[in-house]
Amino acid sequence: MPVFENLAGTSPSSPAKAPAQTADHLVAAGAFAEEERNAVYRAIETRRDVRDQFRPDPLPDDLVRRLLEAAHSAPSVGFMQPWNFILVRQSQTRERVWQAFHQANEEACAMFEGDRRAQYQRLKLEGIRKAPLSICITCDTKRGGPVVLGRTHNPDTDVYSTVCAVQNLWLAARAEGVGVGWVSIFHEDAIKSILGIPEHVKIVAWLCIGYVDELYDMPELAVKGWRDRLPLDKLVFEEGWQDCDDM
Ligand SMILES: Cc1cc2nc3c(=O)[nH]c(=O)nc-3n(C[C@H](O)[C@H](O)[C@H](O)COP(=O)(O)O)c2cc1C
Repeated sequence: MPVFENLAGTSPSSPAKAPAQTADHLVAAGAFAEEERNAVYRAIETRRDVRDQFRPDPLPDDLVRRLLEAAHSAPSVGFMQPWNFILVRQSQTRERVWQAFHQANEEACAMFEGDRRAQYQRLKLEGIRKAPLSICITCDTKRGGPVVLGRTHNPDTDVYSTVCAVQNLWLAARAEGVGVGWVSIFHEDAIKSILGIPEHVKIVAWLCIGYVDELYDMPELAVKGWRDRLPLDKLVFEEGWQDCDDM
């Protein structure tokens, strides 16, 4: 018998029937069938950040809905669900956001020196105007009230939760043949003012979204010589922090 039943009625503050009902929600778990498992790993391994390969054709509403449902299924601290999804299709709005990106990108470029700056200048780091849909994913820091279970000692957990939603959407998109590119190079206030986002709401991601026929087989930044994937074995420690080379 599930342990919840033994707890029924033990606390005056919890209604006796609630724990008994929770047991009804336990369903069989276990590994997926091999083909299903492979599909999950395939989505994870072949997901890419897309900047340029977007097709212009619009995404059907039911597909967009599936992506949003995937995002909304993400874990969140205290089940806070701090996210909102602002769908932006209008080209005038995307143009204004691109202008904000462009200004910040010039500033970013100037932060690198010499060859690295020249290399940065050659990179395309957004698909704001090319992708037919953008979704601005935000984190409402006030959702759920001033004290949220699990967030009591680390207020950043609301943003971590929202990032989980982004990743869910990104993986679901891969399975749908849809490319996603995350743009973070802008002053947050510039985008907030374009979209009318209130002060206490943080922008977590600007996602450019559209069908793709081709994807790089490794991160584009690695293909273009900016940075390689680190060896996993150098990142895994046993039982505590270990000295590692500067990576
Ligand atoms: C928080 C975050 C912000 C990012 N911002 C940008 C960005 O502004 N522009 C860009 O081209 N890529 C951006 N990326 C994508 C990364 O460059 C990309 O994930 C990384 O190079 C690995 O490539 P992959 O996603 O194709 O595996 C961002 C990714 C994350 C997780």
